[in-house]
Amino acid sequence: MASETSPPQPAPAPSNKPAAPVQDSDLQMPVRRIIPYLKPVLPRFILGLLLGVIAALFNAAWLPVCRIIFSIVLNDGGGPPSLGQDYSFLGLNLNFANMFDLDPTAKVGLTGVIIAASFIPLMLLINGVLDYLNKYFLAWVGSRMLQHIRNDVFSHVLRQSPAFFSSSKAGELIQTVLNQTSVAQRNAVQYVQIMTSNPLRILVILVSLFAAHPFFTFMSLFVFPLCLLPVLRLGKRVRKAGKKEEQMIGAMLTAMHESLTGIRLIKAYGREDYEVQRFEKVNASMTGNSIRWQRASELVGPIVESVASIGIAAGLVYWWAMGLKSADFIPVVLLMTRIYPPAKELSKVNLLLQKTRYAINCVVNMLDRQPDIQDAPGANALGRVKGSIEFENITFAYARPNGEKLARPAVENVSLQLSPGRFYALVGPSGAGKSTLFSLLLRFYDPDNGCIRVDGHDIRLVTQKSLRDNIGIVSQDIFLFHDTIRENIRYGRLDATDEEIVDAAKKAHAHEFIMQIEGGYNATVGDAGCNLSGGQKQRLSIARAVLRNAPILLLDEATSALDTETEKIIQEAVHELSEGRTVIAIAHRLSTILEAHQIVVMKDGRVDAIGSHQELLEKSDLYQKLAALQFQEV
Ligand SMILES: Nc1ncnc2c1ncn2[C@@H]1O[C@H](COP(=O)(O)OP(=O)(O)OP(=O)(O)O)[C@@H](O)[C@H]1O
Ligand SMILES: [Mg+2]
Repeated sequence: MASETSPPQPAPAPSNKPAAPVQDSDLQMPVRRIIPYLKPVLPRFILGLLLGVIAALFNAAWLPVCRIIFSIVLNDGGGPPSLGQDYSFLGLNLNFANMFDLDPTAKVGLTGVIIAASFIPLMLLINGVLDYLNKYFLAWVGSRMLQHIRNDVFSHVLRQSPAFFSSSKAGELIQTVLNQTSVAQRNAVQYVQIMTSNPLRILVILVSLFAAHPFFTFMSLFVFPLCLLPVLRLGKRVRKAGKKEEQMIGAMLTAMHESLTGIRLIKAYGREDYEVQRFEKVNASMTGNSIRWQRASELVGPIVESVASIGIAAGLVYWWAMGLKSADFIPVVLLMTRIYPPAKELSKVNLLLQKTRYAINCVVNMLDRQPDIQDAPGANALGRVKGSIEFENITFAYARPNGEKLARPAVENVSLQLSPGRFYALVGPSGAGKSTLFSLLLRFYDPDNGCIRVDGHDIRLVTQKSLRDNIGIVSQDIFLFHDTIRENIRYGRLDATDEEIVDAAKKAHAHEFIMQIEGGYNATVGDAGCNLSGGQKQRLSIARAVLRNAPILLLDEATSALDTETEKIIQEAVHELSEGRTVIAIAHRLSTILEAHQIVVMKDGRVDAIGSHQELLEKSDLYQKLAALQFQEV
């Protein structure tokens, strides 16, 4: 056997670490992890931020403009002002009579008042457009980022090794890919929206108020921190509720996913009501949580408003005491009220973050999760092999979901030499480790000890894809996609032509029954008129393997009995398929076993005996028993 001289080293023993428990203490790291997704959308992001800043700065014009408008319109008891009056605007001296060449002694009439008044809707319109564009651009940025993050999370999920999937629930994975990404995105966008323009907006308003009326502004500044107290108190409660809600959605999706995939079992046992109750229970506690969250977060607005309005009340008293003009007062109050919406939003930021934290952590955890099985650095692609396989002293134990290895190995000290082009049957009692050997050869798991070689190449030193390209598999439980029969077969080799597909179906003895189905190759599996029997599914699966045309074929024979005729047809299909390939068949049928050049008997994870049918009948007690009790004769 050729030994490895090439530089790549086996990847370090897989840590088999489970997904790290989601920490919800540190948000900085996850946020940093998301930043690369920002790069491609940076120009729009900056544009969005800029518009937010402009919208915030725009508030500086509010007070001086309003003051001019109100002094033109209200002009406290002195009758309409004359056109020649001076107004100050942000340090400039405005005189409309000079600017527009009007008679300075003429009084402001209806037209003047209408023009002045229309500045208020105009300013709100400009402000609204800026706000809208700011929100739109940031939402656009968020959606694009979400798209890429979601793609990455999904592809990370698919790249995990089988060990990961046996310890994860499909529903929770769907929840992470679909919901948590979107919760994280939605809330993060809102967070950025709020954080970019709101503090500045409040600052601008406060500065312009402070410049005009220091004492009044001092009052509102004084009252402001009071608003934050209830918010801080609510934060913790909300954080718990938010995290719980995310977990509940995961549980709900899991319940749904399991019910839908196990629907036949549920029906057969009449457990519909039981499943509905299970779902209702999860749904009820989720609703409770969501109500709790909303109760807390909706409470913030009214609290902030009521506390803040104390500032206005105090201001009113001050105004009365100072005997100030209403043309001065009204713009100030109007501007005061413009502080509250951004302040309200800002006070919700904390709650928003609490809720997002868990979702972002789940997403980032998934993105950061390294598959247990990885290609060795510098791994070469394995070309098309002849098909010799060597198991050298293989020992392997499965791990618990927490990463701890089980005490009892599933296979122990297994050594096997398989020559190219030959047919091997693998037999043994249930749980003997037969399927585990397949998983190890496919490198779904790495052995704890020993080495597996294909054509002399350690499979840990070649790329997983090139290894698996050399292996075709017909498994025990056949999975068909909800797609046409043609596409289901094509899954074996994506670039196969329609002729090749028909050819493969013929070799697998599937062509005949396909032609009898309405729609033939275009019939969709699972649709009315295309519900396939066990034997038919097997033949489709064999056709898939024929199309794949791999030099190594793994056959996990279904334990269920087929009728004699179907059995024969499948037997022939397998016979044709195995020509010129190395075949390992986990066999339950005597017909398959008799086909084999050699039979490997396994027991408790060890190889018990190897030989031909006749030899084993003579030398292996276990084989005799299996032959008498288990192998179905046809
Ligand atoms: N994903 C897994 N996690 C933990 N233990 C496992 C896992 N898969 C299999 N095992 C255990 O490993 C041992 C060997 O299982 P394996 O599936 O290889 O048996 P088998 O010979 O294929 O049996 P069968 O004929 O019933 O398919 C069994 O004890 C089984 O409980
Ligand atoms: Mg098995």
